[in-house]
Amino acid sequence: MLKATNLELRFGGFRVVDRVSFTIRAAKTYALIGPNGSGKTSLFNAITGVYKPQGGKIFFRGKDITSYAPHRVYREGIVRTFQYPKVFYKMTIIDNLIFAARNQVGDNPVSAVFQRGKVKEQERNLKKKALDVLDKIGLTKYAESYPSELSGGQLKLLELGRALMTDPKLLMLDEPAAGINPILATQLFKILRRIRDEENLTIFLIEHRLEIVREFVDWVYVMRSGKIVLEGSPNEVLYDKNFLEIYTGG
Ligand SMILES: Nc1ncnc2c1ncn2[C@@H]1O[C@H](COP(=O)(O)OP(=O)(O)OP(=O)(O)O)[C@@H](O)[C@H]1O
Ligand SMILES: [Mg+2]
Repeated sequence: MLKATNLELRFGGFRVVDRVSFTIRAAKTYALIGPNGSGKTSLFNAITGVYKPQGGKIFFRGKDITSYAPHRVYREGIVRTFQYPKVFYKMTIIDNLIFAARNQVGDNPVSAVFQRGKVKEQERNLKKKALDVLDKIGLTKYAESYPSELSGGQLKLLELGRALMTDPKLLMLDEPAAGINPILATQLFKILRRIRDEENLTIFLIEHRLEIVREFVDWVYVMRSGKIVLEGSPNEVLYDKNFLEIYTGG
């Protein structure tokens, strides 16, 4: 589904992503782990067009998407969430979800005027979909609330919901459970697991909690100083003789 070869991202003279190659296969779950500052978020940024890589190639479903702007990457079906939730604080929860959906007919002012019936129908469908997503992420009773009324964990769920509204082919999650308490984190991963299994999603996530990595993913990439230095099944990686040294930076 996704393949990167020799990907390189530099800030000044500093290589934060250092000739990284990896493969993501369809309907599998991958984790990217590594110490703070090892380049995990930067790698996500290079893939999703937030920063333009200075070297290497990225192929998505066989298509070269290297240096695509974020909206084009998104249009291809790669949808990401951020380490710090990005939601619209002046919209209700359900409107946050509806707004996230793609290809809205009403977005085009001409069709909004001349295709009222179609726009109305699409609005109904989006609302139905948003209600379905709300149910999946367990936020039904907050449909008409505002994001400021949600806890940090619920905001993370809302961000996940916004991503799901767009029918992602590849879901990239940057620390989906960061900053929320362990009970909510476990709950979030339960929800994520159910959705993943129901919809056969392909997931690439950055995660610090190794017990979650072990239970949740099929394959692990370990980054240190901008490089992928170790990969394998969770058990292969977590019990590798070099793992602790790499993961704790010595
Ligand atoms: N916009 C930027 N300009 C300059 N340096 C940056 C920029 N973004 C990241 N870096 C540097 O790149 C390196 C990798 O940062 P990155 O955020 O990718 O790490 P990370 O693995 O996601 O860390 P964490 O686990 O703390 O989220 C760090 O040294 C960071 O300071
Ligand atoms: Mg990060």
